[in-house]
Amino acid sequence: MREQYWVPQYTKQEPTRVPELGSVEIKKIRLSDGQTYFMRPLHSSDERRLQEFFYSHNAETLMLRYRHQPKQMSREKAHSLVNVDQRRDLALCLTERQGPKQEIHAVGRYFYLDKENLAEVAFVVRETKRGSGMATVLLCQMMKIAQKRGVAKMLAYVRRDNQAMLHIFENYDFVRQPSDSLEEVVLCRTLESTGQKSELMCEEE
Ligand SMILES: CC(C)(COP(=O)(O)OP(=O)(O)OC[C@H]1O[C@@H](n2cnc3c(N)ncnc32)[C@H](O)[C@@H]1OP(=O)(O)O)[C@@H](O)C(=O)NCCC(=O)NCCS
Repeated sequence: MREQYWVPQYTKQEPTRVPELGSVEIKKIRLSDGQTYFMRPLHSSDERRLQEFFYSHNAETLMLRYRHQPKQMSREKAHSLVNVDQRRDLALCLTERQGPKQEIHAVGRYFYLDKENLAEVAFVVRETKRGSGMATVLLCQMMKIAQKRGVAKMLAYVRRDNQAMLHIFENYDFVRQPSDSLEEVVLCRTLESTGQKSELMCEEE
């Protein structure tokens, strides 16, 4: 039978849940700027919001996050980024709500690599919202989820001049790995399984 050709291939991805977050996937969080935000997984309806967030980034943010300066985020790209398989990979965001309007201020995600049983993490926080703990709470939450899933290690590639990012990872005991790169630092952290050691404490608890 002919495929339903009017439905673009990319819209066939199904949204998935993050079972480790329990039945209520949204957490209300108060950060050091005194404001309240909501932490939750990205979902299908965030496509447009993610594009808006992307277009708020300046050139330096793009370089730090993507290692180059992508000029645009197509609808297709945004669609794939909000519809990741959340049972395997992870994509969390922090939003602010004003009435019916929701704005994304930060995204933390990891990609799971089966072969090594490790998760590679990356973040981006809106320039006007930095320094109030957004990346820190996202990292802590992602570590907790990865730990529950039995992921053995977390890994990150960070530019050597990205002091804020290096500081956050080192606060959470990530260790610099030997690397020949003059530009990037590779950081790694072993995750204890929840049975072995007490759970990680995130700031909002
Ligand atoms: C790196 C980034 C994610 C941090 O986000 P953030 O929400 O501002 O981070 P937080 O507020 O949670 O924490 C910032 C920490 O860095 C520290 N910091 C900030 N600037 C610093 C600097 N120049 N040197 C050392 N530490 C610094 C802060 O004091 C804070 O640490 P503390 O909690 O111990 O006080 C954000 O700057 C960003 O989006 N950068 C562009 C994209 C990027 O670099 N992504 C990383 C790719 S892996």
